[in-house]
Amino acid sequence: MKARESFEKEFTGQYRLFAAPGRINLIGEHTDYNEGFVLPASIDKRIYLAIQALDTMRADLVSADLGEKASFLLDDTRPKLPHWALYPFGVVKELQKRGFRPGGFRAAFGGDIPIGSGLSSSAALESAFAVALNALFGLGADQMTLALVGQSAEHHYAGVRCGIMDQFASLFGKKGQVIRLDCRSLEHEFFPLDLEGFELILADTRVKHSLASSAYNERRRQCETGVALIRKHFPAVKSLRDVNREMLAGLENQMEGKVFQRCSYVVEENARVTQTCDALAQGDPDRVGRLMFFSHQGLREQYEVSCPELNLLVETAAKTPGVKGSRMMGGGFGGCTINLVRSNNVQLFQDRIARAFEKDFGHLPLFYQVSTGDGARELTGNEQK
Ligand code: GLA
Repeated sequence: MKARESFEKEFTGQYRLFAAPGRINLIGEHTDYNEGFVLPASIDKRIYLAIQALDTMRADLVSADLGEKASFLLDDTRPKLPHWALYPFGVVKELQKRGFRPGGFRAAFGGDIPIGSGLSSSAALESAFAVALNALFGLGADQMTLALVGQSAEHHYAGVRCGIMDQFASLFGKKGQVIRLDCRSLEHEFFPLDLEGFELILADTRVKHSLASSAYNERRRQCETGVALIRKHFPAVKSLRDVNREMLAGLENQMEGKVFQRCSYVVEENARVTQTCDALAQGDPDRVGRLMFFSHQGLREQYEVSCPELNLLVETAAKTPGVKGSRMMGGGFGGCTINLVRSNNVQLFQDRIARAFEKDFGHLPLFYQVSTGDGARELTGNEQK
């Protein structure tokens, strides 16, 4: 394990090991910050963290994958740090803001979640540090507080006004289960991810759009603009969660075109999450797949967060035998599609997609077969290898 090796190379003494997973999301994209529903699962790709408490108020960090180091003092306010170090720094600051007092530490981390692929490597990094500092210093914060700490670190230090889905999934996820999360009440229910005869395959465009965070924040603003207008007519509305298609349709001519489009997408996507849960409960992969295709269409045309590479992957998937559903996953503008593929057709799927993608974009996509895995935790015994 790279985190371990790096720690032992840079530092001395005992350390503890923690791991926090990335996530997939079956459906429910850009609904979390609109207080809607999402359907994520934690996966078996993780950030691993080797960490040791210090008596001084200093943090020394090593990113094993990047081969870089960074340090800060716990009472620093805005130290100059490389981007990756802003996540642990943000976690420390957000813990402090809530009255927790973590001490100084030395840490090395690394992992196998591809960065910028829509699998929430940043949430995993936040969760790993949040869980580790909580345990190391006996802070006594509950899991939900740790998820909110991670989300706030993202808002205030990475500059992305994300919802709660990624941190929640990374902390609360369970092997073999998807989580239906109500992002308003934070009530959640686990559903077995039981897709007999099918696989979930991720196809990674390897496109990492630098525009993603500003466009993400812009979408969020547009949703807020929509809600402000809707409230004038329906004062009980607090977020797009409270809005239905009829309410929106009646206001179409008062809304700026793009704002209407964004709101329509969110309202429809929320409904799709509920429908997908029904389809899963009924063991109906055809319906799950159709809903995934509709989700992509909405993300591409109404929410406008897709890109040509993602669209080609979905279009090719739609024409490939044995593929029930396909859509872009995560914030958008690059990263992966998630595909529901009949087990016997996985090879055919990958061959076709690879050929079509290379022809248009000159490089091959990457494929990952999804396996779910447990949420963030300390590693013990054999797991430490
Ligand atoms: C990113 C954010 C999440 C969520 C998704 C889109 O992953 O971190 O909160 O909004 O985009 O569904």
